[in-house]
Amino acid sequence: MNQDDQKRSAAVAALDLIKPMLRSDSVIGVGTGSTANHFIDVLAELRGRFDAAVASSEATAKRLRGRGVTVMELTAAPPLLVYVDGADEINAQKAMIKGGGGALTREKIVASAAEKFVCIVDASKVVDVLGRYPLPIEVIPMARSLVARELVKLGGMPELRQGFTTDNGNLILDVHGLEIIDPTILEVHINNIPGVVECGIFSRPGAHTVIVGQPDGSVRTF
Ligand code: A5P
Repeated sequence: MNQDDQKRSAAVAALDLIKPMLRSDSVIGVGTGSTANHFIDVLAELRGRFDAAVASSEATAKRLRGRGVTVMELTAAPPLLVYVDGADEINAQKAMIKGGGGALTREKIVASAAEKFVCIVDASKVVDVLGRYPLPIEVIPMARSLVARELVKLGGMPELRQGFTTDNGNLILDVHGLEIIDPTILEVHINNIPGVVECGIFSRPGAHTVIVGQPDGSVRTF
């Protein structure tokens, strides 16, 4: 199975996991990216068995609506039954790097409004130590150089994502060269730099359940 097939089988397994929990008033948080897109496609087959979805990006909201799923603003939603999203890297402790698509801030907000985070990935995303994937950080534009200097002090090499503005009107710095031994310490530290809106480490908490699509067509859950 190629990487995209693995993403789809993880998405199908996530739907199988949450299907028995769905009620007519359930609201589901939905992430952003190619794996989340597979989840949207299978979730849409169950519309009518839950109330609505909260989207973590404009792109996700558009795809949900396009498939007939009602999209609710987070401000109007009850606590979310579950949040389902992909990741750029995930370790055995279920801490993640997210934000490859630049939606990390809204993803973290919607995830934290849900009772459970189900992370769906292909096998290439599972790592021993986070950091080979450049760490995305959403930054207020005027603070970009200040934040970049602080990230260099932490041993990283920040690079401005060219031609990209987040749904919140901010910039993304992708930080190369970090070996993230303690994700929680680094997440807290980076989020305390003035001008940082959100950092792409998701460790407090990380995912509750991880579903990995495997090359042989099976899925592994941990
Ligand atoms: C979006 O901002 C990201 O956090 C995605 O969830 C992450 O990049 C995974 O993307 P794919 O599912 O496309 O690999």
